[in-house]
Amino acid sequence: METFSASRDFALQLDKQDSLASFREAFVISDPSLIYLDGNSLGMLPKAAQEKAKQVVDEQWGKDLIRGWNKGWWEAPSRVGGKIGQLIGAAPGQTLVSDTVSVNLFKLAASALTLQPNRTRIITDTFNFPSDLYILQGINDLLSPSPRLRHPSPAGRGDGGEGKYEIIRIGATDNDITPDIAALESAINEDTALVTLSHVVFKSGYLYDMRRITELAHQKGALVLWDLSHSVGSVPIHLDECGADLAIGCTYKYLNGGPGAPAFLYINKKIQEKLSSPIWGWWGQKNPFDFDLEYTPAPGAQRFLAGTQPMISLLTMEAALEPALQAGMEAIREKSILMTEYASFLTENWLAPFGFSLGSPLDSARRGSHISIRHADGYRINRALIEEMNVIPDFRAPDNIRLGFAPLYISFADIWEGFDRIRRVMEEKRHEKYPQQKLTVT
Ligand SMILES: Cc1ncc(COP(=O)(O)O)c(C=O)c1O
Repeated sequence: METFSASRDFALQLDKQDSLASFREAFVISDPSLIYLDGNSLGMLPKAAQEKAKQVVDEQWGKDLIRGWNKGWWEAPSRVGGKIGQLIGAAPGQTLVSDTVSVNLFKLAASALTLQPNRTRIITDTFNFPSDLYILQGINDLLSPSPRLRHPSPAGRGDGGEGKYEIIRIGATDNDITPDIAALESAINEDTALVTLSHVVFKSGYLYDMRRITELAHQKGALVLWDLSHSVGSVPIHLDECGADLAIGCTYKYLNGGPGAPAFLYINKKIQEKLSSPIWGWWGQKNPFDFDLEYTPAPGAQRFLAGTQPMISLLTMEAALEPALQAGMEAIREKSILMTEYASFLTENWLAPFGFSLGSPLDSARRGSHISIRHADGYRINRALIEEMNVIPDFRAPDNIRLGFAPLYISFADIWEGFDRIRRVMEEKRHEKYPQQKLTVT
């Protein structure tokens, strides 16, 4: 760990040594005094994406009209998937852009489960994004002998009611920061069909050892599906090298693809021909323009496309990938680690006296690019930061203020300034005037 100082000059010095500093120019900075620490939820707008969105609307949609499909639109899911593949260690032909993370999880998990009909266990954790858990519960119901297609009851069982599968959710070893890896290891057995986890978990930012978990699952014959939403664009990922089977992820966080930009899915070449999509749509048909009345799956991953993709958003996102592709994941990770270490240092030095604690792993090798700082009054502090201090983090119940450090556009001076403003909220007790009642989006 680097030796840090809390002076502003020190932050400026770190910025001088930052080899990625010039990438900030590639983004639209509409308010220079805004400290934007939510790139882990919605990345900032790259200038290239801004230009591309205009060009797609004015030129492609406006002038090419339907001819656009023969000018690069039809191939866009696999072309852009190939570019994302470069960021996640996937050789060509395995990554596709399509749908949302939730829908891609449904397609891949349902497919992986039906491939192993005699296995009855799904392993995930309590750290996973809730949508992922809901999707698993829904699949469990759907694949049960008599699907109910209604909410499981009693609430809180987490296994989808009386479905076919036992869904095991691994808990924490500590204060909701680190998953219980020993429990995870012993839960994976010969009954396990699927292990599915978020590579970087959304609250604490814990980073799983992808290679190790994948190996453990494979030793017992289980498949592994990784949700890369919080690691793509922030952590180097080596899906092929780790032998991962399946992965999904979003493009609107560290890939800066824009709100609701389509997600991606990865299917290892080794299992592509064995898998069948549960959604038999025409984009996944072998010869869609034959308009055959019977479905024949397209070869490879292509069969996991279902219907028409959102082209404006998809092509805008393609342009947004450029800064990350140019910077390279190793340089991004190096800066990210320095930023989260620096932020942990400021948390300890400035914020701990006000009752804050670090809600993320101390070891940067086990952490993504955001940290959570925890405080019993976290919700109101977060509101004061947004409404009065021009700092944007986000809040995740019960007490986590998440601070995301997107290496392509956040400077060390931004981090210093952000922490200084948090410190001022506490000194001036600005948060105390806000109600405990939460707004819809936190
Ligand atoms: C880790 C993770 N998985 C899944 C999702 C859900 O993504 P989507 O809304 O695209 O389905 C999110 C959304 O933020 C997420 O953070």
